[in-house]
Amino acid sequence: MPNAHRRILVTSALPYANGHIHLGHLVEYIQTDIFVRFQKLRGQTCIYLCADDTHGTAIMIRARAEGRSEQELIAAMREAHLSDFAGFQIAFDHYGSTDSPANRRLCGEIWSALRRKGLVTARDVRQLFDPVAGVFLADRFVRGTCPKCAAADQYGDSCEQCGATYGPADLVAPKSTLSGATPEVRSAEHLFVTIEKLHEFLAEWTRSSGAIDPRIANYLAGHFLCEPLRDWDISRPAPYFGFEIPDAPGHYWYVWFDAPIGYLAATSEWCERSGGAFESWWQRTEGNEAAAEIHHFIGKDITYFHTLFWPAMLEAAGLALPTKVRIHGFLTVNGQKMSKSRGTFLLARTYLEHLDPGMLRYYYAAKLSGGIDDIDLNLEEFTAKVNADLVGKVVNLASRTARWLDGTGLSPRYPDDGGLFAAAAADGTEIAAAYEDCDFARAMRTIMLAADRANAYVDAEQPWKLAKAGPDAAGRLQDVATVAINLFRQLAVYLAPVLPRFAEQVGDLVGGPIRSWEESQRPLEALGIGRFTPLMQRVEAAQVEAMLAQSLAEAAPQTVPLSPGTASMTTQPTADSAEPLAAEPLADTCTIDDFTKVDLRVARILAAEEVPEAKKLLKLTISLGGDVTRTVFAGIKGFHEPSSLVGRLVVVVANLAPRQMKFGLSEGMVVAASGAGAGGVYLLSPDSGALPGMRLR
Ligand code: MSP
Ligand code: ZN
Repeated sequence: MPNAHRRILVTSALPYANGHIHLGHLVEYIQTDIFVRFQKLRGQTCIYLCADDTHGTAIMIRARAEGRSEQELIAAMREAHLSDFAGFQIAFDHYGSTDSPANRRLCGEIWSALRRKGLVTARDVRQLFDPVAGVFLADRFVRGTCPKCAAADQYGDSCEQCGATYGPADLVAPKSTLSGATPEVRSAEHLFVTIEKLHEFLAEWTRSSGAIDPRIANYLAGHFLCEPLRDWDISRPAPYFGFEIPDAPGHYWYVWFDAPIGYLAATSEWCERSGGAFESWWQRTEGNEAAAEIHHFIGKDITYFHTLFWPAMLEAAGLALPTKVRIHGFLTVNGQKMSKSRGTFLLARTYLEHLDPGMLRYYYAAKLSGGIDDIDLNLEEFTAKVNADLVGKVVNLASRTARWLDGTGLSPRYPDDGGLFAAAAADGTEIAAAYEDCDFARAMRTIMLAADRANAYVDAEQPWKLAKAGPDAAGRLQDVATVAINLFRQLAVYLAPVLPRFAEQVGDLVGGPIRSWEESQRPLEALGIGRFTPLMQRVEAAQVEAMLAQSLAEAAPQTVPLSPGTASMTTQPTADSAEPLAAEPLADTCTIDDFTKVDLRVARILAAEEVPEAKKLLKLTISLGGDVTRTVFAGIKGFHEPSSLVGRLVVVVANLAPRQMKFGLSEGMVVAASGAGAGGVYLLSPDSGALPGMRLR
């Protein structure tokens, strides 16, 4: 029996709303989901909470580039995330959003606590500002020449050529990747948390609370806690997509301030829905046996935030501290970083079009041992392992024995099996301990050894021969199949946290839904058996290849149609890849007749004004020569200062069917270029000497 009843709150890191879920993310969500399902199967009270991480500059910029509001973007991304997670059988008890009223309220509460404790200070920060896009630039939105080795086109924080680190203001000839403009250095006030005042607490907590693996604690001690902790910059000046700080108008909480508070907000929303009490999870109850456990699952890249900043915030607010911060490594595919140009930047939904989610869940389980080592998805090994273990050992056990029980059902008494069922039941202790440690690899090895013993039994008993031996052997045949099917269901109980769908199908075949770990401890007798349908098919190499081919094709930038009257723009490369995108595939051939249907004209911009109600639109009045003027709404706001456009020559589609928009009639489309991994929108202009009304041919 499990020990005393536990209450366990489990989180995965909140995925950014500016990108789709990929197989790297899934290392974390699958790992967490397995842990949670295991705890539930053991009868613990366990809740799995997560949310979308919605705020920050990246979302703001992406929304602009896609010509929609941040709210629209994050709503669409939320749907996409939820559908990807559901596809992989990841079962949250609640999935919130950092852009929620509960999160705003809780941010305010934590903020007041920080103020009360005198942990907030203000000072000016010099930062690069994009005068065209009108935003302060995070380091990765600035590129320029390395001040040390003069390598061109380097990021604002470090040089990929020589490894130097510097500030974005040190770059030579810096350019904003948003607009291409030369950024200006501007000074703005920022608010800081003086986390050094919690130095002693953090040194003590990281070392002796048991929440953090000693190797991580050593790393923190050697890299951060060995010197005074730098003040943490937690505000950003407008414009910023986030929550405005109530007592500091014009300042917004930095995304990494409100993101972890999203764990609290998700708890609060879950409690509201299910009638629980927030305090019963997050109130401090020092030394109290009934205290809830809090487990955060995260990737190694965000260790610092979860082992220093987050506990500091909780400490300042007097809330419960994490019981465990469980840190995993990064996914590589075929031994290398996930790569768009190799097609290995695999999105969750691309995988789901080709392969069974259970297979990836099993493969990850077999690879995860609870440490921070990176894990490699080797696609050949994936195919071989899934076929050998899941199809060859587990499913095969039933597919070659279930049919002998069709008419009779299970034997009335569980037969003598030479101790096989008892031995595997005893393995349950070891398997449970491995799950508890997140050493799923060890759990899977133990389970597969039991599967090997079960298959050896079937090989030795040869039920197919008994079936041919006639009525005298019928009792023996039923017994052999009864043993095999019981050993099979026992495996399904142990695998249920990893393979929930499979466990359901096994329940349909025999014995009903698997609800408790204890079902691995006693065999079933005298039960009817459902119809056997193949529970999992072999993976063919061709399926994996088809998935890679599709992934490669999808890595090319996607063209998203904007509203009428605007050139279409491409979405930004997202997720955590700094790699340039593969070239956008060329469109299908068109005939010269097709081309001449499009009446492209040189035009002069006579007037340009912002459409205040539209995030992305400028209203342009253009001349097509003579006294022919047109009104066009163009999705270029944020990339072009209206006043700088007046007088400029551009190219327009002059014969586009007019479209009635909310703000007026749009009578054409201004042509602009975008994509190839750059974030801006670039208007086209003819050579000097060209005149409005000239046709492009
Ligand atoms: N939004 C932050 C987390 C805020 S938590 C208060 C974030 N988001 S993320 O989308 O970039 O990543 C979400 C989780 O997925 C992180 O724990 C991250 O480490 C993990 N992974 C993202 N890419 C990964 C791999 N390639 N491999 C393994 N895990 C990866 O960070
Ligand atoms: Zn350099």
